[in-house]
Amino acid sequence: MIDQRILPGRFEIVVCRTHQDVIAAISNMTVRGAPAIGAAAAFGLALAGCCSMAKNLPTLRSELKTASAELFASRPTAVNLGWALQRMQTVVDAPCASASDLKEKLLAEAKQIAEEDVATNLRMANNGASLINDGDTIIHHCNTGALATVDWGTALGCIRMAHQQGKLVHVLVDETRPRLQGSRLTAWELGQWGIPYEIIPDGAAGYFLHRGDVQKVMFGADRVAANGDVANKIGSYMLALAAHANGVPVYSVFPSTTADLSLATGAEIPIEERDADEVLGITFHGEPVSPQGAKVRNPAFDVTPHELLTALVTDRGIVEPPFDINLPRVLRAV
Ligand code: MRU
Repeated sequence: MIDQRILPGRFEIVVCRTHQDVIAAISNMTVRGAPAIGAAAAFGLALAGCCSMAKNLPTLRSELKTASAELFASRPTAVNLGWALQRMQTVVDAPCASASDLKEKLLAEAKQIAEEDVATNLRMANNGASLINDGDTIIHHCNTGALATVDWGTALGCIRMAHQQGKLVHVLVDETRPRLQGSRLTAWELGQWGIPYEIIPDGAAGYFLHRGDVQKVMFGADRVAANGDVANKIGSYMLALAAHANGVPVYSVFPSTTADLSLATGAEIPIEERDADEVLGITFHGEPVSPQGAKVRNPAFDVTPHELLTALVTDRGIVEPPFDINLPRVLRAV
């Protein structure tokens, strides 16, 4: 895996040799972004299979059950994690000839999940790029690019596709406190592709929206409820509020695997609260920015109510309101 904690300063690969290594990589955000977490978890279970010394199928299946539960607990909000593990489980449960046969099938399924993610993202990128006009300035939150998926990305994939189609796009990159996925990862990716950007402090988005400098707001999603409420990186809700108040369209871009139609509204989405260190560890000129011992609240995600969203961009098409009717309809039509 690319170590996303140290980009853009260093580009290093972390090697995971066991499923416990994968769990650590997901929890400490070596790998992050909903679809990337899903693919990583699938490879994690394949690794649990490869590492197992089990000689018979019942023993292997029982070890895989434990490993899957451990992987599932590594991060709570991105639904792709559970989706990928569920898909791996169907392979575990299917009839097969031997323990070694099952191990091979698990690896093949993980590879298939990764390959499908790239194709899905390309469809989403084409759908989303059709909404972007030549000359648009877009505010983007968090990191939703190739790093957050297997390739291309969600919201950033649409921007990349529009750029590749020859449209002039300019991106205002929310720095995305506290982990700074925007200034560290999105800015790095945009630089790789030669797309013009400027990093802005999260709190500056309202200023640019109010001035009329911005034509669109785009972000991804970590879990989407059946009514179109979107859980995404903390700060997405405030950004959508400011955009809505200024008449700027807001698009959430996500693959169908990020929708959780079992949840009626966003109120049911589990929101991860992360360690205080992520906030207290921020330094300025090498000095901590907070008093020692300060108390912290650090929710990693918030829920943007569907009323604030103009449309949802998926691999199956662009979904317009009313989302409670159109989202299940679009996602269930195969
Ligand atoms: O906590 P992270 O960095 O895993 O959060 C990721 C995001 O919020 C992204 O915007 C997201 O997963 C959606 S699109 C890939």
